[in-house]
Amino acid sequence: MAQDIIIKIIDREGVTHEVLAPTDMNMNLMELVRAYELAPEGTIGICGGMAMCASCQCYVLSDHNLPEKNDDEEAMLAEAFNVKDNSRLGCQLHIHPELEGLTIELAPES
Ligand code: FES
Repeated sequence: MAQDIIIKIIDREGVTHEVLAPTDMNMNLMELVRAYELAPEGTIGICGGMAMCASCQCYVLSDHNLPEKNDDEEAMLAEAFNVKDNSRLGCQLHIHPELEGLTIELAPES
């Protein structure tokens, strides 16, 4: 039986959503936000998860051990707007059991 985890997502209006995320679908955080419609269509996931648009940028607020950024993510965040130290591209973070309780905030639309 696959395990679902809880992820907290603060949307661009500042509203916190606690959502159940499946760990067995190779889903990433951008897809999760889209699945729950927490950002308007067309404002997130524009490049389809290729680390080429930064529309999925989020700020990681919890103290989770996340995988290092790959070169594509680093390069995209170097060009994006509103980047902070805790910025990540949601499409590059895959949902797995260790992310239980992860809290992210969606970066403003740029
Ligand atoms: S969806 Fe485009 S960078 Fe993540």
